[in-house]
Amino acid sequence: MKRKGLMHGADYYPEQWLSRPDILKEDIRLMKLAHINTVTLGVFAWSALEPQEGVWDFTWLDQMMDTLYENHISVILATPSGARPAWLAKAYPEVLRVSEDRKRNLYGMRMNHCYTSPAYRRLVREIDERLAKRYGNHPALKAWHISNEYHGECHCPLCQNAFREFLREKYGTLEALNKAWWTGFWSKTFTDWEQIESPSSRGEMALQGLTLDWKRFVTKQTVDFMRREIETVRAYAPSVPVTTNMIGSFIEVDYPKMAPWLDVAALDCYPQWGGGPDYEIAMDAGFEYDVTRSLKKSPFWLLETTPSLTNWPAVGKPKGPGIHVAGCLQAIAHGSDSVQYFQWRKSRGGYEKFHGAVVGHYGHEHTRVFRETARLGEILENLGEIEGTKTISQTALLYDWNNRWAIEGAKGPRQDKFYEETIREHYRALRRYGVNVDVIDEEQSLEGYRLIAAPMLYLVKEELPQRLMQFVQAGGVLLLTYFSGITDENDLCFQGGFPGPLGELAGVWAEELDLLYPQERGGFCCTGESLPGEGRWSCRDYCEVIHAREADVEACYTSGWYAGMPALTRHRIGKGEVWYLAARAENDFLLLLYGRLLERAGAAYIPGGLPKGVTLCTRCGQKERYLFYTNWNGQPVTVEMPEGEEMLRTGEAKGEQGSMDPLETVILKQKLQ
Ligand code: GAL
Repeated sequence: MKRKGLMHGADYYPEQWLSRPDILKEDIRLMKLAHINTVTLGVFAWSALEPQEGVWDFTWLDQMMDTLYENHISVILATPSGARPAWLAKAYPEVLRVSEDRKRNLYGMRMNHCYTSPAYRRLVREIDERLAKRYGNHPALKAWHISNEYHGECHCPLCQNAFREFLREKYGTLEALNKAWWTGFWSKTFTDWEQIESPSSRGEMALQGLTLDWKRFVTKQTVDFMRREIETVRAYAPSVPVTTNMIGSFIEVDYPKMAPWLDVAALDCYPQWGGGPDYEIAMDAGFEYDVTRSLKKSPFWLLETTPSLTNWPAVGKPKGPGIHVAGCLQAIAHGSDSVQYFQWRKSRGGYEKFHGAVVGHYGHEHTRVFRETARLGEILENLGEIEGTKTISQTALLYDWNNRWAIEGAKGPRQDKFYEETIREHYRALRRYGVNVDVIDEEQSLEGYRLIAAPMLYLVKEELPQRLMQFVQAGGVLLLTYFSGITDENDLCFQGGFPGPLGELAGVWAEELDLLYPQERGGFCCTGESLPGEGRWSCRDYCEVIHAREADVEACYTSGWYAGMPALTRHRIGKGEVWYLAARAENDFLLLLYGRLLERAGAAYIPGGLPKGVTLCTRCGQKERYLFYTNWNGQPVTVEMPEGEEMLRTGEAKGEQGSMDPLETVILKQKLQ
């Protein structure tokens, strides 16, 4: 259905209610009341569609598609490969995943099939083909939802063979593989491809090259499986967009490798809000949205979030009043064109019967959750013109899956590396200046950015230094930090000193890395011309001992045997500059630093930053710009806003001009010149 506007909807499982036509009828009435315009069908419907091998039943889905269409509700139709029927596992045991300790799973749970299994691929193709033939031209169809949250790995003999094939293709010879994996260490040289096995806690855990290649293989195999599903549905419905629900920054699958095959990037996001406003949670959710949007640098879809609580944390606390509207509008602010929930109606039984839903076990609309959902639906209906508008970011954060895997897997130099925390600290500092932030990997385009932050760029892919050099020479500002330029793609340390191939950019060389104990703190102060000299700043965990070669020194250590040596440098190259931060500095310093870097980069930002606890995101259309402000504080706050038409104000508008209530969102619309 070519509906215009933002999507609002939920995962809908009518197959659980086929014996209750009264409930199915009531669902439509309630959907209309909740301003639902799109539902996702069929995510786990395999056994309802094919109750026995080769026995098909599409009657219920036919009826559902028609009824929804008649009621102006579009459908995102899922391929059901996320969960397989029991008959299938019994008839084809090879579809059952083998865990890393080489034990084959029994039938059960979901999203746990072998991606290599030819039987599973064939059976999935068959059901996908039938769905695509039957519904590919149905007027209700809005998009395909390919499978569900692809993830996990299988270590069965079929996967082992496919892994060896992948390695053969990558390396050509065992000699090349042995070299790349540095197998001379601990006598690990391979003399036959058959000797190579996937990593296991009962076997090889220490060969980082093997572990990295295994992770790359798992992504490749997952993407290959997904591509086959996409090809199948596309053959019958070439113009229907395809997507799959990713999980934001989830570390298992290298999403930038998945994204090119999708028409729209999409994610499931379940911020654990707890009872009240929480800026930190908002920042973490914002990061997930930015990761997903940056995959295609286009509007994305939020395909799952909860209208109330989740059933899987230690304590599944319901969202307090006002959080639903603010939290979901935040996704729109970051570039989503949809808010979809898991789930429409609570099931009576099964694993997720206590998970939040728009309609609870009471089954009516007279609840707080329903009212807040309906309110959001109404708001989204009025924001239709925002659909398709873009997020333009002048700043980017480099966050690469290979780098994450390599840092996480490296034995030493300390156990807690704090990479994920560090990325989010830098993200928060940037966001305080009201700028949009793209989160990109080492291979994505650097075009259009003025400032790129690349904290802890430990693993450096071959072409990156050259691309960064071009970026800087053309006027870009780059921030590098300690523990960067350490290894190549195979996790082999660069010879000739760190930061390896980033040295020319940084204009420094790193002699040593001092690691601090958890309670230990170091210090530094600004000594250069770029940052205010007063005040001592504290740092923790990492203090790299660097020498400025061509770079200017902007700050020096005040602690350790390296007191007086550079803690921050700036290297001018071409029209741009590269900053090198040698220590894990406290957050207030990051804030100060990014203010300066944004200024140096000539980026558009709010000097002095937003008030604490307030977020700002911007989307741009052809002629308009939309500014989304939200107050995540527990108290009202005064926010200075530019001129613009107030398109939405979710609070009571009680305060004086510019004052925002807790959890209030304001959208300003500005005409573009
Ligand atoms: C997602 C999953 C949904 C549902 C939800 C519960 O990961 O895709 O099917 O289980 O979690 O929070």
